[in-house]
Amino acid sequence: MTGIQELLLSRIRDVADYPEPGVMFKDITPLLADPAAFTALTDALAGIVERTGATKIVGLEARGFILGAPVAVRAGVGFIPVRKAGKLPGATLRQSYDLEYGSAEIEVHAEDLSTQDRVLVIDDVLATGGTAEASLQLIRRAGAQVAGVAVLMELAFLDGRSRLAPALDGAPLEAL
Ligand code: PRP
Repeated sequence: MTGIQELLLSRIRDVADYPEPGVMFKDITPLLADPAAFTALTDALAGIVERTGATKIVGLEARGFILGAPVAVRAGVGFIPVRKAGKLPGATLRQSYDLEYGSAEIEVHAEDLSTQDRVLVIDDVLATGGTAEASLQLIRRAGAQVAGVAVLMELAFLDGRSRLAPALDGAPLEAL
């Protein structure tokens, strides 16, 4: 493990039985409150923007907004919010995806993505991969290119990586 990985891991708090019994919640608020850790994370993600040649960042509601926005500023690229359905005022593209029980929908402003864009998706956690997969489908439906997906944490036991592979179509999934 690198020094940065140790720093980031030390600032993530495990909260047992939240939001429901049997779930170990990964709380990133201690990391956000520590300027050294938050800066190290922002710099590492900005490095991925550079390596992948991304020209836009898509942040996934809600923690992907917190992580993605400073990266966009640092890297000098635009930031696009992908929101849960019903929160964006303009014309949107909408994508539904399956949850363990039921389904969910996310949206993006259609005018925010074009065929010129090369997009990196940023979020805090990759769990089942459903949210990230749906965001890649939105990006592709808009005609934009996928630069990759970058997350702070990957919950490898849920194998979101496999679910994401077809939508990534060879683009990288980087988990810090
Ligand atoms: C969490 C997390 C990711 C997503 C990962 O968000 O921040 O966006 O779930 O899960 P998946 O890989 O199984 O799709 P959540 O839905 O809790 O939304 P929030 O950040 O708005 O609380």
